[in-house]
Amino acid sequence: MEEKTYIRKIGVMETALRDAHQSLLATRMTTPDILGISNVLDNIGFWSLEVWGGATFDSCLRFLREDPWERLRRIRKAYKNSRLQMLLRGQNLVGYRHYADDTVEKFVSLSADNGIDVFRIFDSLNDFRNIKKAVLTAKKKKKTVEGTICYTTSPVHTNELFVNMAVELEEMGSDTIAIKDMAGLLSPANAYELVAMIKKKVGIPIHIHSHSTCGFASMSLLKAVEAGADIIDTAISSLASGTSHPPTESIVFTLQEMGYDINLDLEKLKEVADYFRKARKKYAAFESEYTSINTDMIVTQVPGGMMSNLASQLKEQNALDKMEEVLYEVPQVREDFGFPPLVTPSSQIVGTQAALNVITGEKYKVITSETKNYLKGYYGKSPSEVNKEVQKKVLGDEEVITVRPADLLEPELNKDYGGIKEYILSDEDLLTYVLFPKIAEDFFKDRKDGKLPDYSNIESETDLNAVLQTETSKTPDEFDVDNIGRDGGLAPSEFNVTVHGESYKIKIAGVGHKSDQKRPFFLNVDGVMEEVVIESLTEIVPSAGGEIVGENIARSKRPSPKREGDVYAPMPGRISKIMVKEGSPVKAGDTVLIVEAMKMENEIHTPIDGIIKEIYIKEGDSVNPDETLIYVEVCNA
Ligand code: CO
Repeated sequence: MEEKTYIRKIGVMETALRDAHQSLLATRMTTPDILGISNVLDNIGFWSLEVWGGATFDSCLRFLREDPWERLRRIRKAYKNSRLQMLLRGQNLVGYRHYADDTVEKFVSLSADNGIDVFRIFDSLNDFRNIKKAVLTAKKKKKTVEGTICYTTSPVHTNELFVNMAVELEEMGSDTIAIKDMAGLLSPANAYELVAMIKKKVGIPIHIHSHSTCGFASMSLLKAVEAGADIIDTAISSLASGTSHPPTESIVFTLQEMGYDINLDLEKLKEVADYFRKARKKYAAFESEYTSINTDMIVTQVPGGMMSNLASQLKEQNALDKMEEVLYEVPQVREDFGFPPLVTPSSQIVGTQAALNVITGEKYKVITSETKNYLKGYYGKSPSEVNKEVQKKVLGDEEVITVRPADLLEPELNKDYGGIKEYILSDEDLLTYVLFPKIAEDFFKDRKDGKLPDYSNIESETDLNAVLQTETSKTPDEFDVDNIGRDGGLAPSEFNVTVHGESYKIKIAGVGHKSDQKRPFFLNVDGVMEEVVIESLTEIVPSAGGEIVGENIARSKRPSPKREGDVYAPMPGRISKIMVKEGSPVKAGDTVLIVEAMKMENEIHTPIDGIIKEIYIKEGDSVNPDETLIYVEVCNA
């Protein structure tokens, strides 16, 4: 029999169990749904299955109330034949801040011990000092390391720069190199050129991860393969396209037809597709309206995901009419910041700052703490120099760090965590706690009380909702609610709110006793019960920060800002910190309070030198731009 000759072998990573549902279903897929298809999915012959990391850890604890480590162990057991892959945010691990080296080391080691074979490790600024610890630890555990390049487009992000990064990653010990195109910006022609250039300089396999967000990804994968890419990421068709990845079956068929060695059985893939088509229905409530293909970026240069965030931020500020201006401002702020790739967290930092620059009518008049930390170097080194003038305006005399940010962190694992100790039953628990203290504490307590949901028998959307809405939240009775849907015609109501591109299911679960002109409301947000206290009750609006707060529409007695020394917030928000006391002397430009708006902390400064004469607010208050928050009296001394 004649041997078939192939062009080359191509590996495929299936993303259904991590990135696909993170991108399309707000990371809500439960462990039973992940395990239910293992008998088929485990035997198809993928290069790897992506199953853990990214937002799944957070989502397991916060929304699904599952132990993420237990999930990993169960996946390991069910998927015996597969190489299991995770996404790790370098020194940020699976969280949102830099963790100390001892935490990073322990986390990577335990991830390996619990079943991860391949670690894809990235830093959002491509500052490789922030991935080194994780890379070396995974190497020490004899696991496969994918050093990762975050792909973006900007005047400084040339293909030559990316090639240098690839060389650096190979020297660091990477076994493969991932090109992570999280915003779907990689065009077919540049995919070809970039992969061809890297192939000339490095010997290890190239793995392409490109989201379909802008509609390029299927074409780009093909061109990347033609240029020599070795492994590609796809998602089974029923969880593919839009903000997810190109469909596995179509890509496999295409490459097989073209003569590549890609031995995945299309019959079995159909079984997998059918399974997830059915499973997806359960998560309909979590499908965002922003998950389809969005080609705006081709014109605006602002990635689709970021556009939807900006739109919802501006809507909260009643400034949707400023969208055009903000879109013009985004590239300028990005340039001031030294062209960070627009991916979490820099996309939020740049977007919010651009919005503030437009809303306030003056560049960097109000800055977020995140902007400040970014310009201080706390996120790492920016791809190119930041604008020195802007940096000076924002930081004044405050010091800029040039060391690796985690060098400034003390070891975290041996700290005295006091009262929480009795709940921490393993090293895995300790890490969960260090990464997400507040959420972990609630989770551990409910675990001890046997109050975690049981996902083992979920058969339908109704079952899933029942679990999410009842078992994962306290019932209204526990809050001493006297009337649900009876008093004053206030019927229980449910509605969907989209904030920063993410949909939340909100249900008014009950109303508490009115006392002292205050009345507690109980809102069920995505299955988690929140208490909201409303003063002189009237209406409920989502706050600027995205969470639900009571807004007092019988306006406060705060005077409107007219005097020279009146300090006010340029946008609606919530007072998160007051930095001064009555009688404190201040100098023009000093930070006097911090307002949380648009999910960021914004520093508000005094316009003049003087003495704090009057403080009209307390921490936690909701405020508006037409109110004086603090009055500074001119000092004539
Ligand atoms: Co991705």
